[in-house]
Amino acid sequence: MANVVLDRVSKEYPGGVTAVREACLDVADREFVALVGPSGCGKSTTLRMIAGLEEATRGDIRIDGRRVNDVPPRDRDLAMVFQNYALYPHMTVAENLSFGLRLRRVSRDEIDRRVRETAALLGIADLLGRRPRALSGGQRQRVALGRAIVRRPRAFLFDEPLSNLDARMRVQMRVEISRLHRRLDATMIYVTHDQIEAMTMGDRVVVMKDGVIHQAGPPLEIYDRPTDRFVAGFIGSPPMNFIDGRIAAREGAPWFEAEGIALRVPAPVADRVALPAAGAAVAFGIRPEALEIREGPAGAGAGMEAMVDVVETLGADTLVHAQAGPHRLVARSSARIAGGARRVALVPDAARWHFFDSETGRHLG
Ligand SMILES: Nc1ncnc2c1ncn2[C@@H]1O[C@H](COP(=O)(O)OP(=O)(O)OP(=O)(O)O)[C@@H](O)[C@H]1O
Ligand SMILES: [Mg+2]
Repeated sequence: MANVVLDRVSKEYPGGVTAVREACLDVADREFVALVGPSGCGKSTTLRMIAGLEEATRGDIRIDGRRVNDVPPRDRDLAMVFQNYALYPHMTVAENLSFGLRLRRVSRDEIDRRVRETAALLGIADLLGRRPRALSGGQRQRVALGRAIVRRPRAFLFDEPLSNLDARMRVQMRVEISRLHRRLDATMIYVTHDQIEAMTMGDRVVVMKDGVIHQAGPPLEIYDRPTDRFVAGFIGSPPMNFIDGRIAAREGAPWFEAEGIALRVPAPVADRVALPAAGAAVAFGIRPEALEIREGPAGAGAGMEAMVDVVETLGADTLVHAQAGPHRLVARSSARIAGGARRVALVPDAARWHFFDSETGRHLG
């Protein structure tokens, strides 16, 4: 298995698009790294450079310590699984699985053994004689995975492998790939634009935007301590609430003020965060589950007065959409909450306040 390193890797496509900027990443042997970001942020380009399908403009790519920039794809010994898994339609599942091995002149017995092993691992042993068109989307995706697994590559590269599947099948395959990761003990780099996939599957999540890696870390670290407003807003569903306003001083204590909102910054937050001086523009960030919904007023500075707008009942929990002055806010509660327009107070949990610099977007704490 393999350790994969990107050392200040950049990619400029002809025509001047910089798809990846100075990317640094060290994927440990057997690690599962999920690369996530909005469309066009450079995820596929990054993965394709690792695979050798795209040349890096600058920087080094190393696999197990060896620089591979000039090594052709087939000699890098990595397996890539794509969204459009392109199985050979005229071949059976067994033939699709064994095709790569036959090209590599692996012995007949060894091929049989690996195909049977892989099919059992993926639960497709009874489909070996079928052709792709007689398979469901999920089954086809399993065959595509199997084709990568039989090769026993040093690392697996996935580019949005589940995006052709329906929601239920995606959830199922997501768990299967995680399980597979544990069984195979393999290095996996997994590209997705779905932050839930990234959070649930990755040992580490790498968040990209506009060709730049904004943050890399374990899922909960990214969730609890985002480095900037982009990461904070991208990871989490529904997203973090942001309110643009400024720091104020009232009787020597810091407050956060925005149109229609005045919150006393709780002492633990003021101690933890290096707050800028009074008057400085900041964005206050609070996740939906960190907003407590109180019927009736909250007391001066303790909460935000808001009008309930829409209540979404999800079963396990409830999303309450409310309007505080010009600000739209979402609160999430595990309690069952009635719909109907009314005034409530939304009270932020003191342990989970976030502030962001309005200019740079940098997380202040
Ligand atoms: N062959 C190419 N020539 C020129 N520009 C390209 C090429 N391939 C990608 N790009 C550009 O590089 C940027 C990054 O593209 P990339 O495919 O890596 O994004 P992505 O994060 O995988 O997006 P998506 O989620 O939509 O798949 C985009 O602006 C894209 O238009
Ligand atoms: Mg892509």
